[in-house]
Amino acid sequence: MTTSAPSTRNARPARRARRTSGTRPAGTAVRWVVRHGLPGLWLARGARRGDPASRLLRDRAVRDDPFALYEQIRARGPLVPGSLGLVTTSHPVAHAILRSDGFGVGWDAASAPWPMRRAIAYGDDPDVAGVAEPPSMLVLDPPEHTRLRRLVSRDFTPRAVAAYEPLVRRIADELLDALPHRGGPVDLVPAYAAALPVVVIAELLGVPVQRREDFLRWGAAAAATLDPGLPFRRYAASERALRAMHAFLRDHVARLRRAPGQDLVSRLATLPEEEALTERELQATIMLLLGAGFETTVNLLGNAVVLLDAHRDQWAALAADPSGWDGAVEEVLRLDSPVQITGRTARADVDLGGRTVPAGTHVTVLLGAANRDPDVFPDPARFDVSRANARDHLAFSAGVHYCLGAGLARLEAVVGLRALTERFPALRVAGAPVRRDLRSLRGFEHLPVTLG
Ligand code: HEM
Repeated sequence: MTTSAPSTRNARPARRARRTSGTRPAGTAVRWVVRHGLPGLWLARGARRGDPASRLLRDRAVRDDPFALYEQIRARGPLVPGSLGLVTTSHPVAHAILRSDGFGVGWDAASAPWPMRRAIAYGDDPDVAGVAEPPSMLVLDPPEHTRLRRLVSRDFTPRAVAAYEPLVRRIADELLDALPHRGGPVDLVPAYAAALPVVVIAELLGVPVQRREDFLRWGAAAAATLDPGLPFRRYAASERALRAMHAFLRDHVARLRRAPGQDLVSRLATLPEEEALTERELQATIMLLLGAGFETTVNLLGNAVVLLDAHRDQWAALAADPSGWDGAVEEVLRLDSPVQITGRTARADVDLGGRTVPAGTHVTVLLGAANRDPDVFPDPARFDVSRANARDHLAFSAGVHYCLGAGLARLEAVVGLRALTERFPALRVAGAPVRRDLRSLRGFEHLPVTLG
């Protein structure tokens, strides 16, 4: 989920930045220039020159269908140079990078030229920090990453996730009960695909489910910040959403400190002193869990319905034999991956793919392309819910940042799709689904269906 453009989202805040945090009058404009304005110009220049990574992040036509461009990049080799560093579409190379100690997610802001350092320090404001900004574990390297991840991982072990099944089933049933059974098409994204994961993660985190419309609105605006090169207005709207979300979470944490519950946030907010998180770490961790908890699974559910609708025979086979749902979910994750792009930076010179990648080189890892590597997945563009090795995909990444919520996402998808199929066996996509205006994440904003 860490994106590929040179931006401060991967940056460790410089020491000075931490000291001077706070809201500043021109903060939004400065942050936009550093994170989106300048990278946007660079990407636009690259796209004009045909640079593939820039086109992926910039070109509108490529947003809806990046797969032809992935194949053009693949034809040029496992590590292709471009204006953002190197790009890989190769499954073995992506896997090696994600698992290698030689690559990290951090970018040391101290190495930036001084005007940039000044701008980063001026714009530093914890109240608008997104999920891919430090100290979110997503963009921290060990040992800081290890410390934060360890504190939350016990809530996502296979045993913990298995215990969530009745909760997920109940929420799915309640949402399906509430769908209008008669009348015209229903937009399945807000009514089900987005609602299911947001209610589940809200329950697990102990945040009030009644605020789910707010979370969805804030989450959608915040997700946009994962893509570099946002226009100013869209960025400013994202900041307003992030500010509202931080304010809500701060009040919520204060409430739970006064009256802790059994939930994850209560536990994180009341850790013993030797383990305690700073306020900034706490906010970043809750924000990441909340955002990652629904901004990705919504895409998995929507992408699954569209693929299954286009392959009715396979959907009918799953309805007849629900034991196939696990494999079907893996195949959707592989073929239409909810997170398409991530990135890593070489921490030292690394030998890889038959060449030396010099320290400091950024590599854009195209997860969605690695998952269609023909050397690993025969006939990779074919949707086949019985594909034997579908689970070898990298849709949840690999290595130390392997998705913490993978088990929960799989559970939500299997339970959610099976419940939907059982309740509405004649469900059909009715009209053209609309893709979300995002590059790093891939899913639908609107998905009109008739329930039958
Ligand atoms: C289909 C659904 C999901 C997909 C495709 C997905 C994908 C990913 C990917 C690709 C990464 C790693 C990015 C990288 O290596 O740079 C990641 C990390 C993460 N995901 Fe998920 N995710 C999903 C659902 C969830 C859910 C439900 C949660 C709930 C808690 C979650 C929590 C996280 C967290 C906390 C991280 C950061 C892990 C770390 O940095 O150590 N994800 N996810």
